[in-house]
Amino acid sequence: MPSPKILVIPGSNRAGSHNVRLAALAAKELTLIDADVTRISLQDYPLPLYDADLEVRNDLPANAVKLKQMMMAHHGVFIASPEYSASVTPLLKNAIDWVSRVRERNDPLYAAFRNRVFAISAASPERSGGLRSLMALRQILELGCGALVIPEQVAVQQADQAFDDMDNLIELRTANLLRAQLARLVEMARLFA
Ligand SMILES: Cc1cc2nc3c(=O)[nH]c(=O)nc-3n(C[C@H](O)[C@H](O)[C@H](O)COP(=O)(O)O)c2cc1C
Repeated sequence: MPSPKILVIPGSNRAGSHNVRLAALAAKELTLIDADVTRISLQDYPLPLYDADLEVRNDLPANAVKLKQMMMAHHGVFIASPEYSASVTPLLKNAIDWVSRVRERNDPLYAAFRNRVFAISAASPERSGGLRSLMALRQILELGCGALVIPEQVAVQQADQAFDDMDNLIELRTANLLRAQLARLVEMARLFA
């Protein structure tokens, strides 16, 4: 059976980002359960703020097309999303908005969000663990883009103290929740492989 291909995307480019750390852990755990993992940084896909006039002129940024193609090349997508003002980061929302507008050849609408499965997680120094960013992200992906998002989600609370020196989660309960979520993601991604 071929390994399902999973793309891992942190919604932060910040040096020392907790969500980059969470994304790295998820990538490591996914590899251990036989997924073929690609971890990217949105830093490598700089995009202007979404501009409908560029779209009208069919002048989509090359990085929007590249990011869309990167998503299309995977059966599953794991997103680690920081919480900004009870929602997702502008970085992540802008990337999703651009990708949602890319249509190549005979692509259906929202092609990058169809025929694959998404899993969402968050890490925040606050006690809520970025739970509200997960609510917002689920709404964007499911209602906005028509994506399939698995119900399992992980919010890492007090993320500044949540990881040990090896970048593993200290709290067993959260570590197990993440493993269960990733197992489900891989199981679902196999259906699209
Ligand atoms: C503009 C802004 C708004 C924020 N709003 C929230 C918030 O609503 N809830 C929360 O838990 N943390 C909030 N934070 C704190 C972030 O969760 C924290 O900076 C976190 O470390 C960002 O994720 P990162 O470490 O992956 O970059 C906010 C931070 C910024 C800069």
